Formats: sequence, C-alpha cells, structure tokens
Amino acid sequence: MIGIIGAMIEEIEPILDRLTCVKTTRIGGNKYHEGSYGGKQVTVAYSRIGKVNAALTAATLIERFNAEKILFSGVAGALKSHLKIGDLIYAERLVQHDVDISAFGHPLGFIPESGDYFETSAQLNEIAASVALVRGVELGKGTIATGDQFIADGAKKEWIQKQFGADAVEMEGAAVACVCAAFHIPVFVLRAISDAADMDAGFNFDEFLKSSAKISADFVLDMVARL
Ligand code: ADE
Repeated sequence: MIGIIGAMIEEIEPILDRLTCVKTTRIGGNKYHEGSYGGKQVTVAYSRIGKVNAALTAATLIERFNAEKILFSGVAGALKSHLKIGDLIYAERLVQHDVDISAFGHPLGFIPESGDYFETSAQLNEIAASVALVRGVELGKGTIATGDQFIADGAKKEWIQKQFGADAVEMEGAAVACVCAAFHIPVFVLRAISDAADMDAGFNFDEFLKSSAKISADFVLDMVARL
C-alpha cells in the first residue's frame, strides 16, 4: 500500500477527486481514505499543519495501514529566486530549520541519534524524474527546510537558505522523512511553489494554494500509476 500525505485539505482534494475510495477511517483526529488509483492501493490523508501533525499521520500510515512507501504532496515557499509560483521541486534531503540545541555544541538542525538531514528515496526520485520527462515539465530538486513557522520575512528566509543550503521551505516534510527513516520506509516529498517566503507570502499563499496544490497532486498521482 502507498501512503499519500498532504498537510491541508486543499492539498489532498485533487487526489481524492480522482481516487476510487472504498473506506474512510478516523484515527487521532485525522481521516484516512483507502482506495485505489491506476490499479494501485493507496491511503490518503491530510495531516493538518506542522511537524507534530505530519509525524502523527506518517506513523499512523506506516503502523496502522502498513504503508510500504510514503509520498508527500503540497506547496512550499521558495527560498531561491529562480523558483517561481507553480514550479515543482522535490526534496533530495530535508532538514528541520527550527531545531536548535547548539548550546550543547551541536550544529543547527541536529538531534543526537536522529541526525539533521534526512535523505529521500533515490528510487522514488528517479521515478519522479522519468514522470517529468514524459510529461515534459520542469522538475526541480534540492534541499527542503521544514519548521513550525510560516516564513513571510526576507531576513528569516535568507537565514534559512544560507544556514541550511535550502531551496524551499515548508512545515511538514522533514517530520515525515524523519518518521520514514525511523521505520526504514522510502519517502518522496514534492512541493509546488505557492509564495516566495517574503513579505507578500501570506497574500500569495492564499491566492495560489489551490492551483499549486493541484500541480503537485496531479504529478504525484502520475507517479502512483508507475509504482
Ligand atoms: N508553505 C508554503 N509557503 C510557506 C512559507 N512561506 N513558509 C512555510 N511554509 C510554507
């Protein structure tokens, strides 16, 4: 079974619209929709915003629904100027930009026995690259920084970009990747840009959430058909 997570209802609605849904179960305040797409068994859920909620959903998909791989679909703020609204980027690795135990000599983002940068599945990333080729769409790749903050400030944006070498910022990906690493489950994290994490980010996010979420969701569904 393939687990698919979005953070917000808007991020999974385009997937649910195309899913043959057979069963919906409520666990821990979230709804899990089991069904099929392109002959593949999938379970789809939106986690609600943030790292804790994302970790809860990823762990539930793995432990209760036996997810063998997890695909995350959603939107992100661009940290690099070449990334425009609607552009797709997948994470080669993810880091928690709001983890700081540097008082004990650890690098920012690092947690003992957990690490800092979480790698995504090379195999799933290759499938994404081949889907992009077939579709003739640009697919960026890079480092995604995750934290429990909506970034809407030029200085903060630049700090995250420089400190972690990050290309995009969001609020769930590294938490999902951390849970998947703990359970040895392959993970793929895709984001379509909704804003530039600057002073206009809130306004742009509201305007482009739905359209960018659909771009990401449609791409992930094309991947499911090929898994
Ligand atoms: N998701 C989409 N845009 C974001 C931003 N600017 N900061 C954090 N998460 C986001």
